[in-house]
This record gives sequence, structure tokens and C-alpha cells, in this order.
Amino acid sequence: MKRDKSLTWTPPATIDFNGKKIAIVGGTGGIGRAFAHEFAARGAQVIVVGRKFRDEGTTGIRALLADLSKMKEAERVGQMLPTEELDILIFTVGIFADHARQETSEGLEQDVTIGYLSRLVILRNMASRLNQSRPDGSRPRVFVMGYPGTEQQAAINDLNSEKSYARWKAHSNSVAGNEALVYDASKRYLNLDVFGLNPGFVQTDIRDEIFKRGGLLNRLGFWITSFVTSTPEDYAHRVLPLFIAPELTGQSGKHFDKNGKAILPSGWVNDANCKEVIRASEKLLSRVGVTV
Ligand SMILES: NC(=O)c1ccc[n+]([C@@H]2O[C@H](COP(=O)([O-])OP(=O)(O)OC[C@H]3O[C@@H](n4cnc5c(N)ncnc54)[C@H](OP(=O)(O)O)[C@@H]3O)[C@@H](O)[C@H]2O)c1
Repeated sequence: MKRDKSLTWTPPATIDFNGKKIAIVGGTGGIGRAFAHEFAARGAQVIVVGRKFRDEGTTGIRALLADLSKMKEAERVGQMLPTEELDILIFTVGIFADHARQETSEGLEQDVTIGYLSRLVILRNMASRLNQSRPDGSRPRVFVMGYPGTEQQAAINDLNSEKSYARWKAHSNSVAGNEALVYDASKRYLNLDVFGLNPGFVQTDIRDEIFKRGGLLNRLGFWITSFVTSTPEDYAHRVLPLFIAPELTGQSGKHFDKNGKAILPSGWVNDANCKEVIRASEKLLSRVGVTV
């Protein structure tokens, strides 16, 4: 990953989320859940989306339950979230591809569907309606978590991993899809600021899924990365100021690393390549009757 020296920012003196309305798609577990706790503890009203609500009774956090392996459900979430009121929309929903190709009930490869296509569908349903009238004049912010800046590319002609399957290839489709989503949305929606987040290694179920199962190499990877792994709470706490830093206004399309420092996107990210990724995604979605 390369540092983006064109953007530096200073944490605001007070990190106050009082009155902020925030939706976290994937906020029922892992990193999204740690974000939800940080925001709610600082006065925000947070709505989390996922399959299982684990924070019943926590002040400031409520849930919209959905199985985002189904694209019709993603459409429903995009329509049900209180879009017009939101200040911040965050996508952390995702899985890590299995050793063998797993299909959703709609016949789509699971990783790319849950970790990327669901986000594309939800954002397309919400973007033009996101809250435009915040008192401080700032624009709504959208944060897309993935692994930007790591040069992972999408198999444009096989986004659904039907011609060949490998778990890292399937996951790269999600990673690259999310980078393309940030680029595309930053050009498409001039009413928003859209950013990418690369959390580095964070100790969650997804990381266990990547490394713990499988052979010796995987377990070695788990051990090596444990030296650079954060807890979700530490990561969330570290990057919290980013969500309200004034310097980010008008900086749509930027990405941030595990410490919240600006990083450059992958080298392949440009207008033509991102359009191809988005076009392939739209085509795949049209197969399951979803138009975005
Ligand atoms: N952890 C890392 O080291 C790491 C590194 C780089 C990038 N990332 C990215 O960061 C994001 C968050 O990862 P994480 O580590 O927080 O993962 P996680 O702990 O596994 O959490 C994933 C979230 O996605 C939700 N989810 C999964 N399948 C779903 C489905 N079918 N329908 C609805 N919700 C679903 C889970 O909710 P329920 O359990 O309630 O369904 C949970 O809220 C992912 O995009 C991941 O690729 C993580």
C-alpha cells in the first residue's frame, strides 16, 4: 500500500457524535459492531444491518435484520433504512470465500454477493436520498470497508467464479469490486463523499475463517499475522475521528489504512477499468432480476 500524501487530516478536538444518525450494514458483528458501540457511546443513533442482533438493550443501537446473500433483501434494506435522515452510511458486511465454491439461493457466488454486490444494490437504492440538510453544511459520508490499495483485481469475465474457482480469486472479486464501487460512486454521486477503508488485520470471525481452517500454510499465515492484528475495538477507536474530520469534506474517492492515514488506490483503478467492473456487476445482478 502506498501513502496518499495529498491528504492529511488532524483529529478533531472533540469526538462528539451527539445527534448523528448512522447506518452500518454489517454492524451486527466484527468491526461494524465495534464501530456501532463507539458511535452509540458518543451519542449517535445507530442502526445496524445483519442476520443476528447481538446488542439488544444497548442505548442508541437498533437493528434491521436481513440476509444479504439475497439481492432482493439488499433492495429491501436500501428502501427500508431511514436514508433521508442519515449522516453516515458504512458498509462492513462480508464473508471470506470457502475452499469450494458456495452459491447463494439465487445462484451467485457467496463472497462477491455478500461482500460486494449487496453493497452496490443498497447504495444505488439510497444514494440520491441521503440526507442533504445537516446544520453544519457537510455532505453525507459513505464508508466502504474492504482491502483497497492492495492491487487485487476482479475477474471481469468471471465475476461469479463459474468458469473457475479459487477462494482467493473469489475474494479478490469482492475486494476489487469495492474499490471500483468507491471510485464509481465518487464520480456518480456529487451530493456525497464516498471513502474506502482498509482495516489491515483485525481479529474477527472473518480472519478466523481465512486462516484457521485449511492446511499448514493457512495456520502459519494466522500465526504470522497475529503480530500485526488489532482487536475490532482498538481499530474502531483508532479511526473514529476520521468519520467526522472536517478535512474529508470534498475528498470523495480517498481510501484510508488501519491507522486512518490516506492511502492510494490500487494501480488498476481508473475510469475505464472501474466502468468494466461495474458493468459486469450490473449484468450479474440483472440475472437475478435486480436492476441498479
Ligand atoms: N477482519 C479483517 O482482518 C479484515 C481485513 C480486511 C478487510 N476486512 C473486511 O472488513 C469487513 C468486515 O469484516 P469483519 O472482520 O468485521 O467480519 P465479521 O466479523 O465476519 O463480520 C461480518 C459482518 O457481516 C454480516 N454478515 C455476514 N453474512 C451476512 C449475510 N448473509 N447477511 C447479512 N449480514 C451478513 C455479519 O452479521 P451476522 O453475523 O449478524 O449475519 C457481520 O455483521 C469485510 O468486508 C471484510 O472483508 C476485514
